[in-house]
Amino acid sequence: MRELGRSLARLLLPGDLVLLTGELGAGKTTLTRGLGEGLDVRGAVTSPTFVIARVHPPLGDGPPLVHVDAYRLGGGLEEMEDLDLDVSLPESVVVVEWGEGKVEELSEDRLHVVIERSVGSEAAGGAEDGAGDGSGEDARTVTLTGVGGRWAGQDLSVLAEPGENG
Ligand SMILES: Nc1ncnc2c1ncn2[C@@H]1O[C@H](COP(=O)(O)OP(=O)(O)OP(=O)(O)O)[C@@H](O)[C@H]1O
Ligand SMILES: [Mg+2]
Repeated sequence: MRELGRSLARLLLPGDLVLLTGELGAGKTTLTRGLGEGLDVRGAVTSPTFVIARVHPPLGDGPPLVHVDAYRLGGGLEEMEDLDLDVSLPESVVVVEWGEGKVEELSEDRLHVVIERSVGSEAAGGAEDGAGDGSGEDARTVTLTGVGGRWAGQDLSVLAEPGENG
């Protein structure tokens, strides 16, 4: 998930909104950690359980990363604005865990990332590599869906290939 986050970071532009959906422990924060590394922002990405939102300023020329945990957010643009983030959302990459159904109105264009824990041997890859007990537990199935013109021409299949960073 971390590697995927790093790869995804290369496709992201200022103003992009990414919604992460998946059960507790699916890997939403882990993916965001990779995004933070890929975007080269300051501060370790951790679970923003007690802070709802955290801004990671860029170390280089890239956009800031705004990491939101909307789990306890009632929903809606208003509440996002009430967070009074000291950053311009249109100039940032905004990643929202548990954001589905809550923050869509932030942007007409958005990338939905749905993470499912693969269960059983019918799951793609991982579980059948014979690496021993429980190896299949860590497998994840990720579905990316781009919404809006921003994503219409974007080839997301590049993310299905193994990362180039080793
Ligand atoms: N393939 C994997 N992808 C992501 N996380 C994995 C994987 N295998 C094991 N893990 C572990 O599962 C946990 C995932 O936790 P993480 O905080 O990323 O999930 P989350 O979706 O953000 O959960 P929450 O809903 O509580 O915010 C981590 O401890 C991570 O090390
Ligand atoms: Mg999390």
